[in-house]
Amino acid sequence: MNQLLPVLSCVLVSAVLPVWTVNACHNGATCVTGVGEDPFICICADGFGGDTCNLTETGPCSPNPCRNDGTCEVIAPTRRGDVFNEYVCKCQPGFEGAHCQINVNDCAKDPCRNGGTCRDLDGDYTCQCPSPYVGKQCQLRCITLLGMEGGAIAESQISASSVHYGVLGLQRWGPELARLNNQGIVNAWTSASHDRNPWIEINMQKKMRLTGIITQGASRMGAAEYIKAFKVASSLDGISYVTYKGDGIRRDKVFVGNVDNDSTKTNLFDPPIVAQYIRIIPVVCRKACTLRMELVGCELNVYSNTAGCSEPLGMKSRLISDDQLSASSTYRTWGIDTFTWHPQFARLDKAGKTNAWSPTQNNRSEWIQVDLGKTKQLTGIITQGAKDFGVVQFVSEFKVAYSNNGESWNVVKDGNTGRDQIFQGNIDNNSHKKNVFEPPFYAQYVRVIPWEWHERITLRMELLGCDD
Ligand SMILES: *[C@@H]1O[C@H](CO)[C@@H](O)[C@H](O)[C@H]1NC(C)=O
Ligand SMILES: *[C@@H]1O[C@H](CO)[C@@H](O)[C@H](O)[C@H]1NC(C)=O
Ligand SMILES: *[C@@H]1O[C@H](CO)[C@@H](O)[C@H](O)[C@H]1NC(C)=O
Ligand SMILES: *[C@@H]1O[C@H](CO)[C@@H](O)[C@H](O)[C@H]1NC(C)=O
Repeated sequence: MNQLLPVLSCVLVSAVLPVWTVNACHNGATCVTGVGEDPFICICADGFGGDTCNLTETGPCSPNPCRNDGTCEVIAPTRRGDVFNEYVCKCQPGFEGAHCQINVNDCAKDPCRNGGTCRDLDGDYTCQCPSPYVGKQCQLRCITLLGMEGGAIAESQISASSVHYGVLGLQRWGPELARLNNQGIVNAWTSASHDRNPWIEINMQKKMRLTGIITQGASRMGAAEYIKAFKVASSLDGISYVTYKGDGIRRDKVFVGNVDNDSTKTNLFDPPIVAQYIRIIPVVCRKACTLRMELVGCELNVYSNTAGCSEPLGMKSRLISDDQLSASSTYRTWGIDTFTWHPQFARLDKAGKTNAWSPTQNNRSEWIQVDLGKTKQLTGIITQGAKDFGVVQFVSEFKVAYSNNGESWNVVKDGNTGRDQIFQGNIDNNSHKKNVFEPPFYAQYVRVIPWEWHERITLRMELLGCDD
Protein backbone atom coordinates (compact mmCIF):
# COMPACT_ATOMS: atom_id res chain seq x y z
CA MET A 1 0.00 0.00 0.00
CA ASN A 2 2.79 2.38 0.98
CA GLN A 3 4.53 1.65 -2.29
CA LEU A 4 1.59 3.07 -4.19
CA LEU A 5 1.59 6.46 -2.57
CA PRO A 6 4.70 7.93 -4.19
CA VAL A 7 3.74 6.48 -7.55
CA LEU A 8 0.39 8.20 -7.35
CA SER A 9 1.81 11.62 -6.52
CA CYS A 10 4.56 11.38 -9.13
CA VAL A 11 2.20 10.13 -11.82
CA LEU A 12 0.23 13.25 -11.07
CA VAL A 13 3.37 15.29 -11.78
CA SER A 14 4.20 13.32 -14.89
CA ALA A 15 0.88 14.36 -16.41
CA VAL A 16 2.08 17.95 -16.23
CA LEU A 17 5.73 17.31 -17.04
CA PRO A 18 5.87 14.12 -19.15
CA VAL A 19 9.63 13.91 -18.58
CA TRP A 20 9.00 11.95 -15.38
CA THR A 21 7.47 8.70 -16.32
CA VAL A 22 8.82 6.76 -13.36
CA ASN A 23 8.68 7.33 -9.68
CA ALA A 24 11.78 9.20 -8.60
CA CYS A 25 11.43 8.39 -4.93
CA HIS A 26 12.62 4.95 -3.89
CA ASN A 27 11.97 2.44 -1.15
CA GLY A 28 8.43 3.33 -0.25
CA ALA A 29 9.13 7.05 0.00
CA THR A 30 6.45 9.68 -0.45
CA CYS A 31 6.86 12.11 -3.35
CA VAL A 32 5.73 15.66 -2.69
CA THR A 33 5.42 18.33 -5.35
CA GLY A 34 4.84 22.04 -5.33
CA VAL A 35 6.94 22.80 -2.24
CA GLY A 36 9.80 25.31 -2.39
CA GLU A 37 12.31 25.56 -5.27
CA ASP A 38 12.67 21.88 -6.04
CA PRO A 39 10.27 20.21 -8.48
CA PHE A 40 9.66 17.53 -5.89
CA ILE A 41 10.79 16.31 -2.49
CA CYS A 42 11.06 12.70 -1.34
CA ILE A 43 9.99 11.96 2.21
CA CYS A 44 11.84 8.77 3.03
CA ALA A 45 10.45 5.78 4.87
CA ASP A 46 12.30 4.80 8.03
CA GLY A 47 15.64 3.18 7.25
CA PHE A 48 16.37 5.16 4.08
CA GLY A 49 17.96 8.48 3.30
CA GLY A 50 19.30 10.61 0.48
CA ASP A 51 17.46 12.94 -1.88
CA THR A 52 15.65 10.09 -3.59
CA CYS A 53 15.64 7.72 -0.61
CA ASN A 54 17.89 5.25 -2.41
CA LEU A 55 20.41 5.26 0.45
CA THR A 56 20.11 3.02 3.45
CA GLU A 57 21.43 3.81 6.92
CA THR A 58 23.56 6.92 6.98
CA GLY A 59 24.89 6.56 10.51
CA PRO A 60 24.32 4.75 13.77
CA CYS A 61 21.35 6.96 14.55
CA SER A 62 19.81 7.04 11.12
CA PRO A 63 17.37 5.43 11.07
CA ASN A 64 16.72 5.91 14.75
CA PRO A 65 17.16 2.54 16.46
CA CYS A 66 15.57 3.80 19.70
CA ARG A 67 11.99 2.88 20.43
CA ASN A 68 9.24 4.75 22.26
CA ASP A 69 10.40 8.24 21.31
CA GLY A 70 13.91 7.66 22.67
CA THR A 71 16.60 9.92 21.22
CA CYS A 72 19.72 8.45 19.68
CA GLU A 73 23.16 9.90 20.30
CA VAL A 74 26.15 8.98 18.15
CA ILE A 75 29.29 7.95 20.02
CA ALA A 76 31.40 7.15 16.95
CA PRO A 77 30.11 6.98 13.36
CA THR A 78 31.95 3.76 12.57
CA ARG A 79 30.75 0.34 11.55
CA ARG A 80 31.66 -3.01 13.01
CA GLY A 81 30.78 -5.75 10.61
CA ASP A 82 27.59 -4.58 9.02
CA VAL A 83 25.95 -3.16 12.15
CA PHE A 84 26.38 0.15 13.84
CA ASN A 85 26.75 -0.14 17.55
CA GLU A 86 28.38 3.12 18.53
CA TYR A 87 25.32 4.87 19.77
CA VAL A 88 23.33 5.22 22.92
CA CYS A 89 19.59 5.63 23.35
CA LYS A 90 18.34 8.28 25.76
CA CYS A 91 14.94 7.00 26.85
CA GLN A 92 11.80 8.95 27.66
CA PRO A 93 10.73 8.65 31.31
CA GLY A 94 9.05 5.32 31.94
CA PHE A 95 11.12 3.40 29.39
CA GLU A 96 14.41 1.59 29.69
CA GLY A 97 16.61 -0.94 27.92
CA ALA A 98 19.32 -0.50 25.28
CA HIS A 99 16.67 0.56 22.78
CA CYS A 100 14.11 1.93 25.22
CA GLN A 101 12.05 -1.10 24.34
CA ILE A 102 10.98 -1.81 27.91
CA ASN A 103 8.04 0.09 29.36
CA VAL A 104 9.02 0.31 33.03
CA ASN A 105 6.30 -1.08 35.22
CA ASP A 106 5.74 1.79 37.63
CA CYS A 107 3.45 -0.49 39.65
CA ALA A 108 6.26 -2.98 40.35
CA LYS A 109 7.10 -1.32 43.67
CA ASP A 110 3.46 -1.50 44.85
CA PRO A 111 3.08 2.24 45.36
CA CYS A 112 -0.62 2.01 46.25
CA ARG A 113 -1.31 1.60 49.93
CA ASN A 114 -4.37 0.44 51.86
CA GLY A 115 -5.55 -1.97 49.20
CA GLY A 116 -5.41 0.47 46.29
CA THR A 117 -5.20 -0.99 42.77
CA CYS A 118 -2.28 0.22 40.66
CA ARG A 119 -2.42 0.98 36.93
CA ASP A 120 0.85 1.47 35.05
CA LEU A 121 1.14 4.57 32.87
CA ASP A 122 3.94 5.96 30.71
CA GLY A 123 6.43 7.14 33.31
CA ASP A 124 3.81 7.21 36.04
CA TYR A 125 1.12 5.19 37.79
CA THR A 126 -2.34 5.78 39.19
CA CYS A 127 -3.98 4.20 42.22
CA GLN A 128 -7.65 3.35 42.44
CA CYS A 129 -8.36 3.64 46.14
CA PRO A 130 -10.97 1.70 48.08
CA SER A 131 -13.22 3.90 50.19
CA PRO A 132 -12.48 5.69 52.50
CA TYR A 133 -8.91 6.12 51.26
CA VAL A 134 -7.87 8.95 48.93
CA GLY A 135 -4.65 10.49 47.68
CA LYS A 136 -2.07 9.64 45.03
CA GLN A 137 -1.10 6.50 46.95
CA CYS A 138 -4.37 6.00 48.90
CA GLN A 139 -2.44 7.15 51.93
CA LEU A 140 -5.12 9.48 53.33
CA ARG A 141 -8.27 8.44 55.17
CA CYS A 142 -11.42 10.43 54.42
CA ILE A 143 -13.26 9.69 57.69
CA THR A 144 -14.22 12.93 59.40
CA LEU A 145 -17.57 12.86 61.22
CA LEU A 146 -19.31 15.70 59.44
CA GLY A 147 -21.37 17.08 62.32
CA MET A 148 -24.85 15.61 62.74
CA GLU A 149 -23.91 14.45 66.23
CA GLY A 150 -21.33 17.15 66.93
CA GLY A 151 -23.54 20.00 65.72
CA ALA A 152 -21.37 21.35 62.90
CA ILE A 153 -24.36 20.67 60.62
CA ALA A 154 -26.96 23.27 61.65
CA GLU A 155 -30.71 22.62 61.95
CA SER A 156 -31.33 24.77 58.90
CA GLN A 157 -29.27 22.35 56.79
CA ILE A 158 -31.57 19.41 57.52
CA SER A 159 -34.94 18.98 55.83
CA ALA A 160 -37.39 16.17 55.14
CA SER A 161 -40.34 15.19 53.00
CA SER A 162 -42.66 15.12 56.03
CA VAL A 163 -42.73 15.09 59.82
CA HIS A 164 -44.60 12.87 62.27
CA TYR A 165 -46.48 14.61 65.08
CA GLY A 166 -47.11 12.32 68.06
CA VAL A 167 -49.19 12.50 71.25
CA LEU A 168 -52.07 14.57 69.91
CA GLY A 169 -49.74 16.62 67.78
CA LEU A 170 -47.59 17.80 70.67
CA GLN A 171 -44.43 15.84 69.85
CA ARG A 172 -42.65 16.95 66.70
CA TRP A 173 -40.29 14.29 65.30
CA GLY A 174 -38.58 16.83 63.07
CA PRO A 175 -35.58 16.26 60.75
CA GLU A 176 -33.38 18.50 62.89
CA LEU A 177 -33.54 15.79 65.58
CA ALA A 178 -32.00 13.12 63.35
CA ARG A 179 -28.63 13.31 65.08
CA LEU A 180 -26.69 10.20 66.04
CA ASN A 181 -27.06 9.38 69.76
CA ASN A 182 -29.60 12.15 70.27
CA GLN A 183 -31.22 11.67 73.68
CA GLY A 184 -34.63 12.47 75.15
CA ILE A 185 -38.18 11.30 74.66
CA VAL A 186 -38.47 12.87 71.24
CA ASN A 187 -34.99 12.27 69.81
CA ALA A 188 -35.15 11.39 66.10
CA TRP A 189 -36.79 12.16 62.77
CA THR A 190 -39.89 10.22 61.80
CA SER A 191 -41.73 10.67 58.53
CA ALA A 192 -45.50 11.17 58.54
CA SER A 193 -47.39 7.87 58.38
CA HIS A 194 -49.19 8.93 55.18
CA ASP A 195 -45.90 9.79 53.41
CA ARG A 196 -45.40 7.17 50.68
CA ASN A 197 -42.04 8.54 49.47
CA PRO A 198 -40.24 9.73 52.57
CA TRP A 199 -36.75 11.23 52.57
CA ILE A 200 -34.48 13.29 54.76
CA GLU A 201 -31.85 15.58 53.28
CA ILE A 202 -28.67 17.23 54.48
CA ASN A 203 -27.35 20.29 52.64
CA MET A 204 -23.63 20.48 53.30
CA GLN A 205 -23.48 23.99 51.83
CA LYS A 206 -20.61 23.05 49.51
CA LYS A 207 -19.37 20.05 47.61
CA MET A 208 -17.99 17.39 49.92
CA ARG A 209 -16.67 13.88 49.56
CA LEU A 210 -18.81 11.36 51.47
CA THR A 211 -17.37 7.97 52.28
CA GLY A 212 -19.97 6.58 54.67
CA ILE A 213 -23.11 6.91 56.74
CA ILE A 214 -23.93 5.75 60.28
CA THR A 215 -27.61 5.14 61.01
CA GLN A 216 -29.54 4.46 64.21
CA GLY A 217 -33.22 4.03 65.08
CA ALA A 218 -35.05 5.23 68.19
CA SER A 219 -37.78 4.07 70.51
CA ARG A 220 -41.16 5.66 70.91
CA MET A 221 -43.72 4.76 73.55
CA GLY A 222 -41.57 1.70 74.42
CA ALA A 223 -41.43 0.36 70.87
CA ALA A 224 -38.39 0.23 68.61
CA GLU A 225 -38.71 2.11 65.29
CA TYR A 226 -36.03 2.10 62.66
CA ILE A 227 -35.15 1.96 58.95
CA LYS A 228 -34.28 -1.57 57.91
CA ALA A 229 -33.22 -0.71 54.36
CA PHE A 230 -32.63 2.54 52.53
CA LYS A 231 -31.31 4.12 49.35
CA VAL A 232 -29.15 7.21 49.04
CA ALA A 233 -29.48 9.97 46.48
CA SER A 234 -27.22 12.98 45.99
CA SER A 235 -27.16 16.26 44.13
CA LEU A 236 -24.73 19.02 43.28
CA ASP A 237 -27.39 21.70 42.92
CA GLY A 238 -30.41 20.58 44.94
CA ILE A 239 -32.39 20.21 41.71
CA SER A 240 -31.30 17.09 39.90
CA TYR A 241 -30.57 14.03 41.97
CA VAL A 242 -28.89 10.72 41.20
CA THR A 243 -29.53 7.60 43.22
CA TYR A 244 -26.37 5.87 44.41
CA LYS A 245 -25.63 2.75 42.41
CA GLY A 246 -22.26 1.53 43.65
CA ASP A 247 -19.38 0.69 41.38
CA GLY A 248 -20.37 -0.97 38.14
CA ILE A 249 -23.89 -1.82 39.27
CA ARG A 250 -26.86 -0.56 37.29
CA ARG A 251 -29.53 -0.95 39.92
CA ASP A 252 -29.93 1.45 42.83
CA LYS A 253 -27.95 0.22 45.78
CA VAL A 254 -30.08 -0.74 48.78
CA PHE A 255 -28.19 -0.34 52.04
CA VAL A 256 -28.91 -2.58 55.00
CA GLY A 257 -29.98 -0.42 57.92
CA ASN A 258 -30.83 -0.99 61.54
CA VAL A 259 -32.19 -3.91 63.55
CA ASP A 260 -33.15 -2.27 66.82
CA ASN A 261 -33.81 1.07 68.49
CA ASP A 262 -30.29 1.91 69.58
CA SER A 263 -27.37 0.18 67.90
CA THR A 264 -25.57 1.91 65.05
CA LYS A 265 -24.98 0.56 61.58
CA THR A 266 -22.17 1.87 59.37
CA ASN A 267 -22.29 1.67 55.57
CA LEU A 268 -19.43 2.75 53.33
CA PHE A 269 -19.82 4.51 49.99
CA ASP A 270 -17.37 2.84 47.64
CA PRO A 271 -16.81 4.74 45.43
CA PRO A 272 -17.35 7.85 47.56
CA ILE A 273 -20.12 10.32 46.76
CA VAL A 274 -19.12 13.84 45.78
CA ALA A 275 -22.09 16.11 46.35
CA GLN A 276 -23.50 19.05 48.23
CA TYR A 277 -26.92 17.52 49.00
CA ILE A 278 -27.43 14.01 50.28
CA ARG A 279 -30.78 12.31 50.71
CA ILE A 280 -31.56 9.17 52.69
CA ILE A 281 -34.58 7.42 51.23
CA PRO A 282 -36.15 4.77 53.52
CA VAL A 283 -37.18 1.62 51.67
CA VAL A 284 -38.25 -0.70 54.49
CA CYS A 285 -39.16 0.63 57.93
CA ARG A 286 -40.01 -1.11 61.16
CA LYS A 287 -43.20 0.46 62.61
CA ALA A 288 -42.21 3.90 61.30
CA CYS A 289 -39.34 5.49 59.35
CA THR A 290 -37.37 6.78 62.29
CA LEU A 291 -33.75 7.86 62.03
CA ARG A 292 -30.76 9.25 63.83
CA MET A 293 -27.61 9.50 61.74
CA GLU A 294 -24.10 10.76 61.08
CA LEU A 295 -22.29 11.39 57.79
CA VAL A 296 -18.64 10.42 57.26
CA GLY A 297 -16.37 12.11 54.72
CA CYS A 298 -13.97 14.95 54.19
CA GLU A 299 -13.39 18.21 52.40
CA LEU A 300 -12.66 17.75 48.71
CA ASN A 301 -9.34 19.51 49.00
CA VAL A 302 -7.98 17.14 51.64
CA TYR A 303 -6.21 15.65 48.67
CA SER A 304 -5.21 18.99 47.20
CA ASN A 305 -3.88 20.37 50.46
CA THR A 306 -1.38 17.58 50.81
CA ALA A 307 -0.48 17.06 47.19
CA GLY A 308 -0.83 20.72 46.23
CA CYS A 309 -3.48 19.74 43.68
CA SER A 310 -1.05 20.26 40.87
CA GLU A 311 -0.58 16.72 39.68
CA PRO A 312 -0.15 16.20 35.95
CA LEU A 313 -3.58 14.90 34.90
CA GLY A 314 -2.20 12.51 32.30
CA MET A 315 -1.46 14.07 28.91
CA LYS A 316 2.16 12.93 29.12
CA SER A 317 1.53 9.73 31.08
CA ARG A 318 -1.42 8.76 28.85
CA LEU A 319 -3.80 8.44 31.79
CA ILE A 320 -5.79 10.66 29.43
CA SER A 321 -6.28 8.27 26.52
CA ASP A 322 -6.32 9.17 22.83
CA ASP A 323 -10.10 9.05 22.58
CA GLN A 324 -10.37 11.72 25.28
CA LEU A 325 -8.64 14.23 22.98
CA SER A 326 -10.27 16.08 20.11
CA ALA A 327 -9.86 19.30 18.17
CA SER A 328 -11.61 21.73 15.85
CA SER A 329 -9.42 20.53 12.97
CA THR A 330 -6.16 18.77 12.19
CA TYR A 331 -3.30 19.93 9.94
CA ARG A 332 -1.41 17.68 7.54
CA THR A 333 2.02 18.81 6.41
CA TRP A 334 1.93 18.98 2.59
CA GLY A 335 -1.42 17.27 2.78
CA ILE A 336 0.25 13.96 3.66
CA ASP A 337 -1.58 11.64 6.04
CA THR A 338 1.70 10.42 7.55
CA PHE A 339 2.34 13.94 8.75
CA THR A 340 -0.98 14.59 10.44
CA TRP A 341 -0.78 16.75 13.57
CA HIS A 342 -3.47 14.94 15.57
CA PRO A 343 -4.83 16.28 18.87
CA GLN A 344 -3.69 12.92 20.27
CA PHE A 345 -0.11 14.13 19.70
CA ALA A 346 -0.52 17.18 21.92
CA ARG A 347 1.19 15.38 24.80
CA LEU A 348 3.89 17.26 26.70
CA ASP A 349 7.40 16.22 25.57
CA LYS A 350 6.14 14.00 22.79
CA ALA A 351 8.92 13.21 20.33
CA GLY A 352 8.84 12.30 16.65
CA LYS A 353 8.47 14.05 13.31
CA THR A 354 4.88 15.04 13.94
CA ASN A 355 4.69 15.43 17.68
CA ALA A 356 2.08 18.05 18.49
CA TRP A 357 -1.41 19.21 17.61
CA SER A 358 -1.84 21.69 14.80
CA PRO A 359 -5.13 22.84 13.22
CA THR A 360 -5.84 23.43 9.52
CA GLN A 361 -6.36 27.17 9.91
CA ASN A 362 -4.34 29.60 11.94
CA ASN A 363 -7.18 31.52 13.44
CA ARG A 364 -8.86 32.11 16.77
CA SER A 365 -11.71 29.70 16.11
CA GLU A 366 -9.49 26.66 16.52
CA TRP A 367 -9.35 24.66 19.75
CA ILE A 368 -8.14 21.44 21.29
CA GLN A 369 -10.29 19.66 23.86
CA VAL A 370 -9.62 17.28 26.71
CA ASP A 371 -12.44 15.18 28.17
CA LEU A 372 -11.22 14.25 31.64
CA GLY A 373 -13.90 11.56 31.97
CA LYS A 374 -15.23 13.07 35.18
CA THR A 375 -15.16 16.38 36.98
CA LYS A 376 -11.72 17.29 38.25
CA GLN A 377 -10.20 20.33 39.87
CA LEU A 378 -7.98 22.21 37.40
CA THR A 379 -5.21 24.37 38.82
CA GLY A 380 -2.84 24.94 35.92
CA ILE A 381 -1.53 24.15 32.46
CA ILE A 382 1.89 23.57 30.91
CA THR A 383 2.28 24.33 27.20
CA GLN A 384 5.05 23.60 24.73
CA GLY A 385 5.63 24.24 21.02
CA ALA A 386 7.32 21.97 18.46
CA LYS A 387 9.18 21.97 15.17
CA ASP A 388 7.75 21.00 11.81
CA PHE A 389 10.64 19.92 9.57
CA GLY A 390 12.95 22.38 11.26
CA VAL A 391 10.50 25.28 11.50
CA VAL A 392 9.97 26.48 15.06
CA GLN A 393 6.26 26.80 15.81
CA PHE A 394 4.35 27.57 18.99
CA VAL A 395 1.34 29.23 20.59
CA SER A 396 2.38 32.46 22.28
CA GLU A 397 -1.01 33.41 23.77
CA PHE A 398 -4.11 31.36 24.48
CA LYS A 399 -7.46 31.30 26.25
CA VAL A 400 -8.88 28.43 28.28
CA ALA A 401 -12.53 27.37 28.35
CA TYR A 402 -14.19 24.68 30.42
CA SER A 403 -17.48 22.83 30.53
CA ASN A 404 -19.29 20.13 32.45
CA ASN A 405 -21.33 18.81 29.53
CA GLY A 406 -19.11 19.52 26.52
CA GLU A 407 -21.75 21.89 25.14
CA SER A 408 -21.95 25.11 27.12
CA TRP A 409 -18.58 26.66 27.82
CA ASN A 410 -17.14 29.16 30.28
CA VAL A 411 -14.02 31.02 29.27
CA VAL A 412 -11.59 31.51 32.17
CA LYS A 413 -11.83 35.18 33.18
CA ASP A 414 -9.22 37.58 34.44
CA GLY A 415 -10.05 38.21 38.12
CA ASN A 416 -9.24 41.93 37.86
CA THR A 417 -10.80 42.98 34.58
CA GLY A 418 -13.58 40.41 34.26
CA ARG A 419 -12.59 39.88 30.63
CA ASP A 420 -11.41 36.62 29.08
CA GLN A 421 -7.99 35.83 30.47
CA ILE A 422 -5.19 35.68 27.90
CA PHE A 423 -2.47 33.32 29.08
CA GLN A 424 1.12 33.87 27.99
CA GLY A 425 2.32 30.83 26.09
CA ASN A 426 5.59 29.74 24.58
CA ILE A 427 8.59 31.53 23.11
CA ASP A 428 10.42 28.62 21.47
CA ASN A 429 10.04 25.10 20.12
CA ASN A 430 10.72 23.18 23.28
CA SER A 431 10.61 24.86 26.68
CA HIS A 432 7.73 24.34 29.11
CA LYS A 433 5.59 27.32 30.01
CA LYS A 434 3.43 26.92 33.13
CA ASN A 435 0.33 28.99 33.87
CA VAL A 436 -1.71 28.76 37.07
CA PHE A 437 -5.51 29.01 37.19
CA GLU A 438 -6.42 31.46 39.95
CA PRO A 439 -8.89 30.58 41.22
CA PRO A 440 -8.89 26.90 40.22
CA PHE A 441 -12.03 25.60 38.53
CA TYR A 442 -13.91 22.31 38.38
CA ALA A 443 -14.69 20.77 35.02
CA GLN A 444 -14.86 17.59 33.00
CA TYR A 445 -14.02 19.24 29.66
CA VAL A 446 -11.22 21.72 29.04
CA ARG A 447 -10.44 23.57 25.82
CA VAL A 448 -7.36 25.53 24.88
CA ILE A 449 -8.04 28.27 22.34
CA PRO A 450 -4.86 29.59 20.65
CA TRP A 451 -4.92 33.40 20.48
CA GLU A 452 -1.49 34.32 19.12
CA TRP A 453 1.15 32.06 17.59
CA HIS A 454 4.49 31.88 15.84
CA GLU A 455 4.49 30.41 12.29
CA ARG A 456 1.65 27.96 12.86
CA ILE A 457 -0.54 26.98 15.82
CA THR A 458 1.40 24.06 17.30
CA LEU A 459 0.82 22.78 20.79
CA ARG A 460 1.92 20.14 23.25
CA MET A 461 0.54 20.38 26.76
CA GLU A 462 -0.20 18.98 30.21
CA LEU A 463 -3.09 19.85 32.51
CA LEU A 464 -2.48 20.20 36.25
CA GLY A 465 -4.96 19.53 39.03
CA CYS A 466 -6.40 16.70 41.06
CA ASP A 467 -9.47 14.51 41.39
CA ASP A 468 -12.54 16.43 42.51
C1 LIG B 1 20.95 7.32 -5.49
O1 LIG B 1 20.41 8.22 -6.45
C2 LIG B 1 21.35 9.18 -6.94
C3 LIG B 1 20.61 10.16 -7.81
O2 LIG B 1 19.31 9.77 -8.08
C4 LIG B 1 22.49 8.45 -7.66
O3 LIG B 1 23.44 9.39 -8.14
C5 LIG B 1 23.14 7.49 -6.73
O4 LIG B 1 24.11 6.71 -7.42
C6 LIG B 1 22.11 6.52 -6.12
N1 LIG B 1 22.73 5.75 -5.07
C7 LIG B 1 22.51 4.44 -4.93
C8 LIG B 1 23.22 3.78 -3.79
O5 LIG B 1 21.74 3.81 -5.64
C1 LIG C 1 -33.67 -0.06 72.99
O1 LIG C 1 -32.30 -0.37 73.08
C2 LIG C 1 -31.82 -0.50 74.38
C3 LIG C 1 -30.32 -0.70 74.33
O2 LIG C 1 -29.99 -1.69 73.41
C4 LIG C 1 -32.51 -1.66 75.05
O3 LIG C 1 -32.07 -1.78 76.40
C5 LIG C 1 -34.02 -1.41 75.03
O4 LIG C 1 -34.73 -2.54 75.54
C6 LIG C 1 -34.52 -1.14 73.63
N1 LIG C 1 -35.88 -0.69 73.66
C7 LIG C 1 -36.78 -1.18 72.81
C8 LIG C 1 -38.13 -0.61 72.97
O5 LIG C 1 -36.55 -2.06 72.00
C1 LIG D 1 -11.27 30.44 10.88
O1 LIG D 1 -11.11 29.54 9.82
C2 LIG D 1 -12.29 28.83 9.51
C3 LIG D 1 -11.97 27.82 8.46
O2 LIG D 1 -11.39 28.43 7.35
C4 LIG D 1 -13.37 29.81 9.09
O3 LIG D 1 -14.57 29.09 8.82
C5 LIG D 1 -13.62 30.80 10.18
O4 LIG D 1 -14.53 31.76 9.77
C6 LIG D 1 -12.32 31.47 10.58
N1 LIG D 1 -12.57 32.28 11.75
C7 LIG D 1 -12.07 33.49 11.91
C8 LIG D 1 -12.40 34.17 13.19
O5 LIG D 1 -11.34 34.00 11.09
C1 LIG E 1 14.48 23.87 19.74
O1 LIG E 1 14.61 23.34 21.05
C2 LIG E 1 15.80 22.65 21.28
C3 LIG E 1 15.74 22.03 22.65
O2 LIG E 1 15.45 22.98 23.62
C4 LIG E 1 16.98 23.61 21.16
O3 LIG E 1 18.19 22.90 21.37
C5 LIG E 1 16.96 24.17 19.75
O4 LIG E 1 17.96 25.14 19.65
C6 LIG E 1 15.62 24.80 19.41
N1 LIG E 1 15.62 25.10 18.01
C7 LIG E 1 15.46 26.33 17.55
C8 LIG E 1 15.57 26.47 16.09
O5 LIG E 1 15.22 27.26 18.28
